Amino acid sequence: MDRRIEVIVADITTLKLDAIVNAANSALLGGGGVDGAIHRKAGPRLLAHCLTLGGCSAGEAKISPGFDLPAKFVIHTVGPVWSGGNNHEDKVLAACYRRSLEVALDNGVRTIAFPAISTGAYRFPAGQAAKIAVRTVSRVIAGDDRIDRVQFCCFSTAAADMVSARLSALEPTP
Ligand code: APR
Repeated sequence: MDRRIEVIVADITTLKLDAIVNAANSALLGGGGVDGAIHRKAGPRLLAHCLTLGGCSAGEAKISPGFDLPAKFVIHTVGPVWSGGNNHEDKVLAACYRRSLEVALDNGVRTIAFPAISTGAYRFPAGQAAKIAVRTVSRVIAGDDRIDRVQFCCFSTAAADMVSARLSALEPTP
């Protein structure tokens, strides 16, 4: 298990890291859940900035400043809407984590937190999502010392337990 990966229970908008990830929708114009919380805390300049980003497709990621948030950047990604599991949902969810980290690295981000993308309004089963999140992040950061810390920021202890179980089940990294 990579010691740079942590599981926490917190409101992601309170985290003072280089970047927090937003589980957005393709319009990038705000919404409910974690998206709503991030826009409220970042202030109206975030929405104004997002208007210039041209939206974002599922599995992609775009970066903005954090404005009034403690985090320096917000990386907006768009998860898959769960529709039974036969519509490439796993692949698109993995792409969200991978592309968010790639965008982070391109912008010098060393510390980053992810919410449980797609597990709220988009109804992706939380256990399956945790498995994909942990596996993808571990693979992307393995052997890359430009990342100092990745936090899985869960909104409940039940969600955190699922991610922790998946982390413990990972093969030890060499
Ligand atoms: N901090 C951390 N996690 C949070 C927070 C928060 N402040 N608020 C909600 N969460 C958690 C939820 O408990 C859930 O586990 O984030 C996870 C993702 O849920 P949603 O925010 O509903 O995101 P998602 O399922 O990806 O749906 C995206 O919802 O609000 C809209 O604009 C958004 O249309 C998009 C859709």
